[in-house]
Amino acid sequence: MSRIVFDETAIAARVRELGDAITADYADGPLLVLGLLKGSFIFVSDLVRQVKRPLQVDFVVASSYGTAMSSSGDVQMVYDPETDLAGKHILLVEDIVDSGRTISVLWDVLSKRAPRSLAICALLHKHMAEHLHHPVRYVGFDAPNEFLVGYGLDHAEDFRHLPYIASLK
Ligand code: PRP
Repeated sequence: MSRIVFDETAIAARVRELGDAITADYADGPLLVLGLLKGSFIFVSDLVRQVKRPLQVDFVVASSYGTAMSSSGDVQMVYDPETDLAGKHILLVEDIVDSGRTISVLWDVLSKRAPRSLAICALLHKHMAEHLHHPVRYVGFDAPNEFLVGYGLDHAEDFRHLPYIASLK
């Protein structure tokens, strides 16, 4: 592990700020926080506890598979939310936006389910997303173009449990 990029204290402070912003922005209507597994599982858990308004939580699974150090580009929906999305504010929560392929595929799928609104919250954004055609409304941190692990992010399924975010190289 070469270096810690975002430590526990910085992450907690930023997640609180994101929670405050989400609380302020969603004044009324049902809110469904939709976490993208597996990478967002810790972020979603921390984030929803900082949102001070009623909400529901569900998950989607879309994986680009592989154990390579870069996205394969083959994004597939593996698990669909059980909850009805129609008429709800949908906040799609992602751990990291890299190429933007995952978010773009999910946006197209979810926007067809008649949500009241659809927005993206990403803990990390590399701002390299040539495939991203939709705005990321909430960004935790601008991330360096390095391979990041921890706080849900993995390398070949390892390191997800680390309480901080570190760079492998
Ligand atoms: C990773 C990461 C994001 C996505 C970002 O997921 O968690 O969901 O890739 O890459 P993109 O912007 O280039 O699409 P992965 O497919 O590795 O699955 P995981 O969340 O289960 O680790």
